[in-house]
Parts: sequence; structure tokens; C-alpha cells
Amino acid sequence: MQTRIEKISNIKDASAIFAEAGEILRGGGLVAFPTETVYGLGANGLDAAACAKIYAAKGRPSDNPLILHVADRAMVDMAAAEVTPMAERVLAAFAPGPVTVILPKRGEVPASVTGGLSTVGVRMPDNDIARAMIRAAGVPIAAPSANTSGRPSPTTAAAVRADMDGKIPLILDGGACKFGVESTIVDCTGARAAILRPGAVTREMLAEVLGELAPPPVVDEKEAPRAPGMKYTHYAPIAPLTLISALHENLSEAFCVAVREAKAAGKRPSVIVSKETAERLAHLVPPEHIAVFGGAGDLPAMAAHLYECLRAFDGKDADVLFAETVEETGLGVAIMNRLKKAAGGRIRYV
Ligand code: TXA
Ligand code: MG
Repeated sequence: MQTRIEKISNIKDASAIFAEAGEILRGGGLVAFPTETVYGLGANGLDAAACAKIYAAKGRPSDNPLILHVADRAMVDMAAAEVTPMAERVLAAFAPGPVTVILPKRGEVPASVTGGLSTVGVRMPDNDIARAMIRAAGVPIAAPSANTSGRPSPTTAAAVRADMDGKIPLILDGGACKFGVESTIVDCTGARAAILRPGAVTREMLAEVLGELAPPPVVDEKEAPRAPGMKYTHYAPIAPLTLISALHENLSEAFCVAVREAKAAGKRPSVIVSKETAERLAHLVPPEHIAVFGGAGDLPAMAAHLYECLRAFDGKDADVLFAETVEETGLGVAIMNRLKKAAGGRIRYV
């Protein structure tokens, strides 16, 4: 299959492309599209056969449920049997935006789409291209991130192409994604809202709207995760990644030690670091082995560039990676959640 990329600069000039995307989706095909978080791989969320193509294209385990994307509040009712008062508050405050609410599912949503669960994730993306495409399709669009299962999520059309070339007919190119980490998933079915996956809508922001939330889950890799997808290896670059956690004043020295050790062991190291650390490593690490994900402490920039950095050394001559950590507050919770998964739990504390 030929994969076409359609660059969309102005949605007003793109009605023919949206009509075509809508037709592909209604016909049971796949279309990749931009959102404000990461690119999605879309199919008609009410069509089990269409959604089966998503699992095949990604190599995704079939028990990992998909979330349904809607264009407006009215469309939420096509996916959810009931919108709980808690969910109404989350949607009123943050939708369209980087948040997914878990709700009881409607009977029309196939069980294979929700991994057999009686609940469904619903999300209204804050991206004009995404919502115009969903409107053109006229149905909720099931969409996981448009990466091969286990790989970093794509935040550009080129990254989608790297994983999906030849597997899907159409990629809508809306440029780089604004947030760069996937939506916050909030379970709104219980007595208290529970965050199943951290994202750009932070715990603090949700607490302002909902009051008390369920406490964050104790991190135990053996325990059954509540967002089923979180149990799989995630976001992993090709070369193994180790995180380096150190006090600010020890950070560049810690990276120097790690890089020298790796070289002494005959490895070719590359690093993913803040601008400040990159400057301090310039004498030791050539620029092609450094990916900068933002200024130190600039969490929005670091989130936005995180996945591009995790993909930066794929297919290059790097066989070990080291990455800087961030403080686990606010958006830093989401960044560290993805970094730890990308590193498979390998952290060096200095
Ligand atoms: O920002 C995002 O959410 C992106 C963009 C494309 O919208 N999508 C995304 O989808 O990240 P995906 O499939 O990569 O991640 C969805 C996560 C998975 O971990 C899945 O297990 C969880 O949501 N999930 C889906 N339905 C669920 C449900 N009913 N209950 C609990 N977790 C659910
Ligand atoms: Mg994903």
C-alpha cells in the first residue's frame, strides 16, 4: 500500500482532503492524524473490523483497549452510555484538550475495541484538523498513538511515516504536536476520580475542578495496572536507555562518568539532556550524539520534544543512551512516567 502524506496548513482549504479521510474511515480504513498530544492512528470506533486493522498495523496486543475521539460534547453520547457528573466537570473544564475520561461504554461500541471492558475512554482533541476529520467521518474515531507498539509515540508526520509506511493509505500532516505527551486518563466511573495515566492536565489542575482525587497508585510493576496498556514496554528507543538522576551541581559530572565508562566498554554513547547539560558536555560528546529536549526546568518544551529525542538515535551509530531526569511535579510527572517506561526502569542515582 502507498502511504500518502497530506500537509494541511489551513483547514478551510482542505475540505477535499477531509472528505477523502471521512470516506476512508467510513469505509473501514485507517487514517493517521495530528492531535495536540501525539499523532493518532484512526479507525471507525464502532466498526470492529476497522479497529482490528489498528491492532494489526501497530502490532498491538488485542487486550489493550482503544480510546474513542469525538468532535464535540454531543458525540460523547455516541461512545458512552452515561456521562457521570465527574466526567461532565472534567469535560467542561478541559475539553477540547489533552484529557481522556473513562466512562461506562455504550452497547454499540464493540467489545474488541475496549479489550472486553465495560468502560470506554473518550477524548475530544484540541486540534482543528483532528476535529474536522472526526466530523467528516461522522462517527467516534478509535485512535491509539500512531507508532508501532512499544516504540515512542510520534509527534510529527515523519515519525508516523517511519512506523506506518506502507501500512496505511493516508497521513494528515498538521506539523509538530503542541504537548508531546499523551492525554491524561481519568477514570470517572468510581466514587473518586483516579488518574490512570499522567499527562498535560495535571493532578493539581484536576483537583481544582474535582476536589479530592483517588491517591496515586503505589508503583509496583507486578500489580495489575489500571490503564491496561501501561503494563507493556513503552516508548522504547532502539538502543537501551538509562536515566541519570543527580543533584543539579553533580549532573554534568555524572553524565561525563557514564559516557567515559560506556566508551571504555567499547560502546558508542549518546545523551538526551537539557540545553544547560548539553553545553557542559560539549567537550566530551560530539553534537551528533546529543539530543536536547529543552532548557532545564522548561517542562512544556521538554515534554514537546521528548519523543523526538527518544527517536533521534534510531538508525544512527549509538548503542547506549543516557537521559536527564526532571522533577516529578506538575507536567514533570508525565515526563518521568514516559522516561521511566522508555528506560525499562533503569535509573542511575548519583
Ligand atoms: O493523547 C492520547 O491519548 C493519544 C492521542 C492519539 O489521542 N492516544 C493514546 O492512545 O495515547 P493509546 O492507545 O496509545 O493509549 C491509550 C491508553 C492505553 O494505555 C489503554 O490501555 C488505556 O488508554 N485505556 C483505553 N481504554 C481504557 C479503559 N476503558 N479503561 C482503562 N484504560 C483504558
Ligand atoms: Mg500509545
